[in-house]
Amino acid sequence: MPQTAVITGAAKGIGQVLAKAFLQADFNVLMTDADDQALAGARDELAHYNRVQTQVLDVRNKNDFEQALNVAQEHFGAAQVLINNAAITPTTPVLEITPEEFSQVLDINLRGCFLGCQVFGAYFAQQNQGRIINMASLAGQMGGTASGAHYASSKAGIITLTKIFARQFAGQGVTVNAVAPGPVLVDSITEKVPPEKLAEIIDTMIPVKQMSDPRLIADMALLLASDQAATVTGATWDANGGIFMR
Ligand SMILES: NC(=O)c1ccc[n+]([C@@H]2O[C@H](COP(=O)([O-])OP(=O)(O)OC[C@H]3O[C@@H](n4cnc5c(N)ncnc54)[C@H](O)[C@@H]3O)[C@@H](O)[C@H]2O)c1
Repeated sequence: MPQTAVITGAAKGIGQVLAKAFLQADFNVLMTDADDQALAGARDELAHYNRVQTQVLDVRNKNDFEQALNVAQEHFGAAQVLINNAAITPTTPVLEITPEEFSQVLDINLRGCFLGCQVFGAYFAQQNQGRIINMASLAGQMGGTASGAHYASSKAGIITLTKIFARQFAGQGVTVNAVAPGPVLVDSITEKVPPEKLAEIIDTMIPVKQMSDPRLIADMALLLASDQAATVTGATWDANGGIFMR
């Protein structure tokens, strides 16, 4: 019986790559996103995998997580994996961030992850089986360079939440881990940054002189989702090209 993975922010970027990787690894996948049009487009690209469903889920709403869990159970019988991937990444300079913008970023990035861990974690614990994978970031470990203070703070909070939920569910068959990527080569970056500029950034900022392929991030998530990763919990796995070592 295939397992089921629920992914937030799956309409684009790393989330879409995660969805494809989990489908290729024979999971059922419930792709969710707040952007219904982008979600429909992403689903069309993966429609030839007949184990994919979509559900609009805004991570600011606890009820949306509860509905997604219901949809996963109705379509696939159960859910075993949650990937809290959705986020926004504003780059506003620290002294220009308004209180409203700060709260908006924390609500989506950090509180959204918290709600996902709460709703799915409780369900997984009842089932005595589950994997939660939270997308953190290098910015949450070293304060960030291009990304904003609110973004970096939210990602630092995710690393701490990961430990708290890992401790909460340890002993109930549920692991909770984070992945902390540095720069990942996704379409939003290649569309925004000209190739010469990108080459300069890679050359001057990344010791290994390459950005991570999003497929690496997906493969890390797949390993964390596997049965054999039962002893890994509360961890944050880095993929940052040597920018930050600990
Ligand atoms: N791309 C990178 O270099 C990089 C580096 C480190 C960490 N990350 C993390 O990886 C994850 C994915 O990054 P990405 O570059 O693919 O981002 P992206 O901007 O390409 O995609 C994010 C997705 O989240 C969705 N989203 C935004 N607000 C939402 C909400 N309120 N509810 C539900 N969905 C919402 C968007 O619609 C979008 O589809 C994020 O958590 C990000 O912080 C990315």
